[in-house]
Amino acid sequence: MHNSDTGKTLLVLGGSGLVGLEVLRQALADPQISRVVAPTRRPLPAAVNHYAHLDNPQIDFDSLPEDADWWHCDAVICALGTTRKRAGSREAFRAVDRGYVSNCARLARRAGTRTFVLNSSLGASPRSGSFYLRVKGEVEQELGAMGFPSLSLVRPSLLDGDRSENRPGELVGLLVSRAFKPVMPKRLQAVKASDVAATLLQAAITALTGRHVIESNAIVRHR
Ligand SMILES: NC(=O)c1ccc[n+]([C@@H]2O[C@H](COP(=O)([O-])OP(=O)(O)OC[C@H]3O[C@@H](n4cnc5c(N)ncnc54)[C@H](OP(=O)(O)O)[C@@H]3O)[C@@H](O)[C@H]2O)c1
Repeated sequence: MHNSDTGKTLLVLGGSGLVGLEVLRQALADPQISRVVAPTRRPLPAAVNHYAHLDNPQIDFDSLPEDADWWHCDAVICALGTTRKRAGSREAFRAVDRGYVSNCARLARRAGTRTFVLNSSLGASPRSGSFYLRVKGEVEQELGAMGFPSLSLVRPSLLDGDRSENRPGELVGLLVSRAFKPVMPKRLQAVKASDVAATLLQAAITALTGRHVIESNAIVRHR
């Protein structure tokens, strides 16, 4: 991704999702960012798709456009992921949350991108007893082996935000989290998608050298 401006160039994966769309909103309004590319499988909503410095190529994540110039950017922010229910099986879930993420990261790294920021999850670990958290841990580990000079792994608890899709399990979790917020440890409290997005964007812009894990309680909360 080449740009004559002095601002940063960003590649956003999962830009049509709850967190990804919020990353786009914030990045597109940020004067430090000069160009954003957000490849998705379906066009982004008009609410963000009118910015001149946003490109929204429609791609097939099973057949990535390896030679696209946008794999080279200042930072990748990845909020791409599915649920086991939506994917249809454990393996289909792993193919998205681990396979798609790793494949994109590898192409970005190969193109010379130095900074990668992942929206992971509270409890991510390759040794977790939960399949979901194990897959998140596996992808974190794969990213760690790719040689990004700056790698940030943001691990939010339950996400709070306006989701059109019906996810009854998450809704119950959110109601419980809201009701017990005063007595619940901060690291377990639900966190707003907009706060997660701000944390992801900040990590991408500052691009601190090394591997950084940002746990849910370190995500800055705004009113
Ligand atoms: N839900 C929670 O409480 C929670 C908590 C902690 C961490 N997380 C993690 O945070 C990340 C972001 O969550 P979110 O709620 O913002 O996700 P989301 O709203 O479900 O959005 C997911 C994004 O990934 C894309 N995607 C999913 N399956 C795809 C496929 N097969 N091919 C291409 N693109 C695909 C979606 O594109 P489409 O719009 O085309 O579907 C969308 O852009 C996820 O990795 C999730 O596991 C979630």
